[in-house]
Amino acid sequence: MRRAKSLKGEIAIPGDKSISHRAVMFGALAHGETEIENFLAGADCLSTISCFRQMGVDIEQNGTKVRVSGKGIDALTEPEGILDVGNSGTTTRLMLGILAGRTFHACIIGDESIAKRPMTRVTNPLKNMGASIDGRQDGNFTPISIRGGKLKGIEYQSPVASAQVKSAILLAGLQAHNEKTKVTEPHKSRDHTERMLRAFGAEVKEEGLSVEITGGQSLKAASIQVPGDISSAAFFLVAGAIVPDSTITLKNVGINPTRIGIIEVLTKMGAKLTIEEKGTHAHEPAADLTISTSELKGTTISGDLIPRLIDEIPVIALLATQAEGDTIIKDASELKVKETNRIDTVVQELNKLGAVIEPTDDGMIIRGKQTLTSSASVSSHGDHRIGMMLAIAALIAKGDVSLSGHEAIDVSYPQFFEHLDQLAVK
Ligand code: S3P
Repeated sequence: MRRAKSLKGEIAIPGDKSISHRAVMFGALAHGETEIENFLAGADCLSTISCFRQMGVDIEQNGTKVRVSGKGIDALTEPEGILDVGNSGTTTRLMLGILAGRTFHACIIGDESIAKRPMTRVTNPLKNMGASIDGRQDGNFTPISIRGGKLKGIEYQSPVASAQVKSAILLAGLQAHNEKTKVTEPHKSRDHTERMLRAFGAEVKEEGLSVEITGGQSLKAASIQVPGDISSAAFFLVAGAIVPDSTITLKNVGINPTRIGIIEVLTKMGAKLTIEEKGTHAHEPAADLTISTSELKGTTISGDLIPRLIDEIPVIALLATQAEGDTIIKDASELKVKETNRIDTVVQELNKLGAVIEPTDDGMIIRGKQTLTSSASVSSHGDHRIGMMLAIAALIAKGDVSLSGHEAIDVSYPQFFEHLDQLAVK
């Protein structure tokens, strides 16, 4: 891995992963031609395209431009083969919500990481709505087979703040004719589904922590301009703050309020960050973000902030190693069921580089400020966000860092190393 003296310049952040998945799925359920621009052509979103093609949807993809020819949800057809979701939890859980209302049979598999991720959080409520679902350990793990059916609406109190759970139930609810489905969460999770349903012409009601949809509404094709992914920008926001003599601008980053926990934390820790708003497309706001090397102080991250930065916690842990004083992350036990157990993988890999981080039951305590000194061989553990966080750590490590498993980064940010090279001053 390379070290960097400083970072300078600007990059355009690739499309948001959550929004790209949803644009393809909603386009597949809608009537008409959905045009998507700045689609994230990473492995996860390509898995979504291939699954919907297997269900008879005509999808043309040319780099970051995608055209989905939707013929309505009833036009989806039984896939001949198994639907392979690769590494993608979003594909698995949202697609289960769609399949719950289809009368055909489908079988879902994914990679080793997907096989360990809990699915009863969606399969149980979907079974209550009327779908037949089975899988290893009572439908908790892939392979999962599903035969949907006539659904009834439910009122569901989710035990976790999860946009994947909320979205799966809303997508099933959309198919429960003339019935209402309401999902309530303990904290608000990302609301891309609610915003995009509206962009596709559906009516969705939101009140506090509840979202309600009436079944039987049909979706109309839309034009979706995907903003850059703040979860990808997060790696460079942290890099800009911790690498000496740096100033970088990240163009066209999505700043949906349910995603900007990283901006709030950087600001609270004292980072020099400016935000230039650039307008809203399909209900999703975007901005150019400029960050410079900053004097940082530790903070506490907990409660309803957690779902708004859950995917950024690995790189926030790195940021906190460079802040004066301790940073405490709590209420984040969801980290244990991400692409890896991110409490374990963050602590294990950053401590190899000389950080001092203690794992806790629902988060971690990061001691600051620590010089990352050691030469070490670190691993992504097949987790894209752990891989990118370690590549950013290597920029400031005093020793030589070698990273194994960097190919996992293709899941969400195929141009990551190219962008790093563009910004790094040699
Ligand atoms: C996502 C929701 C989050 C997030 C994931 C993408 C989505 O997962 O971690 O990367 O697109 O809905 P949970 O819903 O499990 O919190």
